[in-house]
Amino acid sequence: PFEVKLASSGKVYTIPADSTVLRVLNDAGVFIPASCEQGVCGTCLTRVLDGVPDHRDLYLEQAEQAANDQFTPCCSRSKTAMLTLDL
Ligand code: FES
Repeated sequence: PFEVKLASSGKVYTIPADSTVLRVLNDAGVFIPASCEQGVCGTCLTRVLDGVPDHRDLYLEQAEQAANDQFTPCCSRSKTAMLTLDL
């Protein structure tokens, strides 16, 4: 598990191994648009302000993934204990 923090509210959410950032946030009423939920379409793309995403998508180019300033919350996870998102 890891945590995500929303920059706007400062709220922190725990993402369990069997769920996704997208699902946890949507369940909490934080709406992120999504479509494929498989890391293909890029609809859910979200800016990352702090922390290092564990990119699992097929959407971002390698250089874009390496920049670590955006990720796909439908499938990607975190390499750091916390990710701060621009939400
Ligand atoms: Fe398609 Fe996340 S919903 S990449």
